[in-house]
Amino acid sequence: MKVLIIGASRGIGLELAKQYRAENHAVLGTVRSEEASRYLHDTGAAALRLDVTSAESCGQLTATLDGERFDLVYLNAGVFGPRLREFETPTQSDFDHVMHTNVLGPMRLLPLIPDLLAPGARVVIVSSRMGSMALRTEGHAWLYRASKAALNSVMKDASLILGARAVCVALHPGWVRTDMGGAQADLSVQQSVTDIRRTVSRLGAADNGSFLNHDGTPLAW
Ligand SMILES: NC(=O)c1ccc[n+]([C@@H]2O[C@H](COP(=O)([O-])OP(=O)(O)OC[C@H]3O[C@@H](n4cnc5c(N)ncnc54)[C@H](OP(=O)(O)O)[C@@H]3O)[C@@H](O)[C@H]2O)c1
Repeated sequence: MKVLIIGASRGIGLELAKQYRAENHAVLGTVRSEEASRYLHDTGAAALRLDVTSAESCGQLTATLDGERFDLVYLNAGVFGPRLREFETPTQSDFDHVMHTNVLGPMRLLPLIPDLLAPGARVVIVSSRMGSMALRTEGHAWLYRASKAALNSVMKDASLILGARAVCVALHPGWVRTDMGGAQADLSVQQSVTDIRRTVSRLGAADNGSFLNHDGTPLAW
């Protein structure tokens, strides 16, 4: 199997690379630094430079990968942004940074992805249950929440457009001990990624357009 991971320098993306490589799958991960390229190479994966906030960088993806076809694509790159208090208005630059990374980045990459898909491919958009409106019980972190709610909308449209060509889902990795999730989080990155890989391996056509927890249970929008 050939796996493309957008955002593979650390955290969940790097662990995805490690676990797929451990099973001898071909992995191409994207990174933004030379140091991160080395971490990825240590797993046996190939590395490609990509910044999802750059239209130019995203635009080069298909030219660079000309002819390559992937069975599995993860759109994992994301930022949390500032830890805003309830009703704290984000600065323009924080708003732009979070929305450009979490929403505009996938909206740049998804239109390019059909050319990169092998028959029967799966496209996994790493979202968050913090984007769910139905499951919300508190109002902090509203910028991050808004970005993941918008990302879920983007995933839904992508699932309709990709249609029969691929199964496309939004997936919540759990609250995971990474730079973003912090040391108090519930899950180790190894456990989260083990669950994600099992869930993704079981995806079928009926799952297209769904919003799933890392363990495969459906999440409310
Ligand atoms: N950890 C959690 O508890 C949790 C919960 C729900 C959802 N998630 C989601 O899971 C995904 C991965 O999170 P994580 O916990 O692994 O976070 P992380 O450790 O902070 O890693 C974030 C990843 O995104 C990449 N990235 C950020 N901005 C980018 C850009 N402009 N262009 C390309 N890559 C960029 C980072 O690359 P650099 O190293 O170059 O910055 C890094 O590879 C995110 O989408 C996050 O929203 C995480």
